[in-house]
Amino acid sequence: MEATRENWGSRIGFLLAAAGSAVGLGNIWRFPYMAGSNGGSAFIIIYLAFTFTIGLCIMIAELAVGRRAKLAAVGAYKHSSERWTFAGALGVLSGFLIMGFYPVVGGWALAYVWKSTTGLLADPGAIGAAFGGFITSPVQPVAWMLAFLVLNVVIVAKGIAGGIEKAGKILMPSLFVMLVLLGIRSITLPGAGAGLAFLFRPDFSAVTGTTFLAALGQSFFSLSLGMGCMITYGSYLKKSEKIPSNGLIIVSLDTGVALLAGLAIFPALFAFGLEPAAGPGLVFVVVPSIFAQMGGIGVVLSIIFFVALTVAALTSSVSLFEVVVAYLIDQKQIPRIRAVIGSGVVMAIMGALASLSLGVMSGTPIPLLGVGAFDLFDILTDKIFLAIGGLLLAVFVGWVIRKDDLRAELTNDGAHTFGGFTLWYHAVKYVIPVAIAVVAVVGIISIEQTALMLLGLLVIAVFALFSRRF
Ligand code: PFF
Repeated sequence: MEATRENWGSRIGFLLAAAGSAVGLGNIWRFPYMAGSNGGSAFIIIYLAFTFTIGLCIMIAELAVGRRAKLAAVGAYKHSSERWTFAGALGVLSGFLIMGFYPVVGGWALAYVWKSTTGLLADPGAIGAAFGGFITSPVQPVAWMLAFLVLNVVIVAKGIAGGIEKAGKILMPSLFVMLVLLGIRSITLPGAGAGLAFLFRPDFSAVTGTTFLAALGQSFFSLSLGMGCMITYGSYLKKSEKIPSNGLIIVSLDTGVALLAGLAIFPALFAFGLEPAAGPGLVFVVVPSIFAQMGGIGVVLSIIFFVALTVAALTSSVSLFEVVVAYLIDQKQIPRIRAVIGSGVVMAIMGALASLSLGVMSGTPIPLLGVGAFDLFDILTDKIFLAIGGLLLAVFVGWVIRKDDLRAELTNDGAHTFGGFTLWYHAVKYVIPVAIAVVAVVGIISIEQTALMLLGLLVIAVFALFSRRF
């Protein structure tokens, strides 16, 4: 197994791919609307605090677990203890569920490349209604979702170094440049000051237990944590790479992009008099509105922006896809091509249901749960499975893996030092499990959909019971 395991072609290749996994719709589509509907800067402060404490520690832990075992999520847990296999399997399930709705939004981004060329920007007043009309229609968004999914299948089928790494290398930097340009334009619009105040002047009166869970969920989602994705990527990482510094770079890049997206969106949003709590349509309405003011060049920039957004989505979704596929290859000995096509078909069905749940099926939510497929996949993963996945990983690392093994992994067998080791170790062993549990309890108490939470816990219990089967 060791001899045949692929490795990243280069250090920068790994970093770009891991940052490519982290930076995605979570930063540019989800972060702004989560911040917008959770009160702005107070949410952002809590999000930042979680990201650089819990998030960074779990990032380092996941990379270490993956590289130590040289196996993807399930295998890495199983490598230490069969009783823990379920925690890896839960991650695979999370990846699968996220792939039930992520390609829907990826499809929107792809569609907006096309729409930018076909008159979307011609009537700025109609951009909001156009988005609503588009995502609720029965055929168009499903077709775009399928197109996005096909791109995933092609990349993941080609394996690690060939597909994912190349895509990240070429296209991630362009997104960064686009966001900086957009941010500058947004901040210099007349009336942008209110947006900056919303971003930077904290109002803690809007903070509740739900805000903390939302911020933790957003942090994990954005960093691709809590579901074994970084375990999987770490398993391909060379023995000579320093894990702590790589982890810090990934976390910083991801957070930087989210904040940039916020800077690009909120000043413009307030300048145009739009509503910060408008929800999932934020980026698809605000960004085209900025471009619509620019005339011909706006069309070109809009095309570039949505190409970049599609690519960011793609480098993240292939990592989700890879978690599922790596499991099928490593644990079930299914050939890569068959694993990719088989899981792709199931994801297509889930994606179609998720897309339709926003339109024609919006009047018929899932019985007992009261939400549609899109929200079900989103809430189950982001609010429940990722947080609990992170908690389980912390307990696993702190209490199952030997401290000396961790030290060896994080210092490359003593080849260099990791000054924060003791702090990191105690945080992972004692503080983080308790912190996540507290945040989950405080947040869940105020979630209306208790049935959803019960469903989530039931799934986890069943997984734990059948841990040896995965
Ligand atoms: N981090 C990605 C984003 O922010 O869009 C989404 C994601 C990718 C979540 C991979 C989880 C994951 F394992």
